[in-house]
Amino acid sequence: MTQLLDPALINGVAAKTIDTRKLLERIAAEFAPAVFANSLGAEDMVLTDIIVREGIGIEIFSLDTGRLAPETYDLMGRLTRHYGLKLKLYYPRHRLAENFTREHGINGFYDSVESRKACCHARKVEPLQRALAGKKAWITGLRAEQAATRTGLAVQEFDAANGLEKFNPLADWSEKEVWAYVHANAVPYNKLHDEGYPSIGCAPCTRAVAPGEHVRSGRWWWEDPTSKECGLHVKRA
Ligand code: ADX
Ligand code: SF4
Repeated sequence: MTQLLDPALINGVAAKTIDTRKLLERIAAEFAPAVFANSLGAEDMVLTDIIVREGIGIEIFSLDTGRLAPETYDLMGRLTRHYGLKLKLYYPRHRLAENFTREHGINGFYDSVESRKACCHARKVEPLQRALAGKKAWITGLRAEQAATRTGLAVQEFDAANGLEKFNPLADWSEKEVWAYVHANAVPYNKLHDEGYPSIGCAPCTRAVAPGEHVRSGRWWWEDPTSKECGLHVKRA
């Protein structure tokens, strides 16, 4: 908690918050309709707080994979009450989910990277495509520091896979800065973060990490770090 009193940290967060707000306002003005993909992780709560409190015209949606943790559903409820926000939810197409479980089994994602990607495709990637249809830009809470696969992440890039502009306003925020913002602004957050989960995805594919371990080491922990992307954030050459 002493880090919260660190003036350099507080000033840094204040400056980055202004830049982030200005960027979000520019996206809303120049790329309407733009949407924000909210996974309900700490980063995404920062963006939610800025968008809602500043009244920025960007729709907020989440992909409900059907396999999220109870704590994540609890946060969706708290979010709605705290901000009066209507979070738009997208669901997997039932045929895709049924095909996956019939072919691979209910938890078949543990068997191979291919089956894990097939599950992520049915439960995340296909619903994301529907959420992005007809939009000019989408916004994520990705940070460059989060993973080897995210090093050098740009704030703005063209998402060729989905055919629209993609913005990562927190690309250069540190984990400390995210948490400083959350605490300073009393932003609601997932209770799992206090139980050793720095990064939260679907319940069966996320576990707690030991202090000092890499923030994403609890995601798909049985896989090689270089394969740990679910297909939401792909780069096409
Ligand atoms: S993931 O690709 O490995 O699942 P991560 O959990 O780090 O991603 O989240 C990165 C960004 O992807 C989030 O900030 C959010 O913009 C988007 N995202 C991930 N999961 C979801 C979800 N269930 N609903 C909406 N957006 C999501
Ligand atoms: Fe399926 Fe796990 Fe991907 Fe969720 S994170 S969609 S449960 S493989």
